[in-house]
Amino acid sequence: MPRIAVLPGDGIGVEITRAAVRVLETAAKRFGFELELHEALFGGAAYDKTGKAFPQETVELVEASDAVLLGAIGGPKWDHLPATERLEIAGLLRLRGMAGAYANLRPVAAYPSLAGASTLKPEVVRGIDILVVRELTGGVYFGKPRFREPHATGLRAVDTVEYSTGEIERVVDLAFRLARNRRKKVTSVDKANVLETSRLWRETAASVAAKYPDVAFENMLVDNCAMQLVRRPSQFDVLVTENMFGDILSDEAAMLTGSIGMLPSASIGGTVDIYEPIHGSAPDIAGKNIANPVGTILSAALMLRHTFGLDDPAREIERAVERVLESGYRTADISAEGSTVVGTDEMGELICREVTA
Ligand code: IPM
Ligand code: MG
Repeated sequence: MPRIAVLPGDGIGVEITRAAVRVLETAAKRFGFELELHEALFGGAAYDKTGKAFPQETVELVEASDAVLLGAIGGPKWDHLPATERLEIAGLLRLRGMAGAYANLRPVAAYPSLAGASTLKPEVVRGIDILVVRELTGGVYFGKPRFREPHATGLRAVDTVEYSTGEIERVVDLAFRLARNRRKKVTSVDKANVLETSRLWRETAASVAAKYPDVAFENMLVDNCAMQLVRRPSQFDVLVTENMFGDILSDEAAMLTGSIGMLPSASIGGTVDIYEPIHGSAPDIAGKNIANPVGTILSAALMLRHTFGLDDPAREIERAVERVLESGYRTADISAEGSTVVGTDEMGELICREVTA
């Protein structure tokens, strides 16, 4: 039976994960498949109880699972922790690294019913369908050394960006394979005019591209890409890039859909797949039942499709989300004139109802 580790984490992570679990259970009942869900502590919640962001018990659960459904972690309460204990580093990055999930897929699709929710003009975002493929286990997020030391002016801090041919090859290759089932275009994003790692990225991407003559290929500098994403986002199909550029560009791309709360992600390629919305724990709105659970619900759908091969239930969940939005229901972040604003739980329930309908 598929085993899923559910790690709600902190802040709104708790509410949105609860909604996504309900949707998963509803889909399981409707489509007649079984899921084994086990919840565990992660992030600040784990730190407060055990002194560790990623306690051994959670590590073991993840190792024994096929997939992880993650909410979000972090908050001002834990911002004082030293680098090695920081929730993001000792928790999230360790999880991604341990899983070996090197490719983070962030699909950015425009819902016609949400065209008015974007801060961009409707004609700019209409019909966009972009897949951001972010390298997830390398680059400056994991590079060593990372330290601080005394300096004449106070302190000096160092982070390290590193990439090997193999790390670039596998994620770019995946981007090309994914593009083949889409509109057959890959844009590789780097900063090759300045960075050595980006020059290696560009050379490696070119050699991978040569294996896919049926897929259109282009390189783009990251600063230009940031501009093109708001200028003419419809030019993009699959966008592949290194860890930090992918982090930044995917938040920007999220706004094409109207809200960062809408975007799901799948981190794949390792021993266990991780599914999480791309947003954070939003401590300012936590516990208020106003967060948008759609990103997490769509992440659960990606899990059914990618890890468990359950394509029909996945598509049903995605359609249920569309139908609920088309009926005019919105969480506060995507509300518009004439829409009915509902809370996190209600949004989850409405989607469950559509899944069973
Ligand atoms: C994301 C987040 C994380 C990241 C943070 C919370 C460490 O922003 O998943 O995009 O930078 O990867
Ligand atoms: Mg981010």
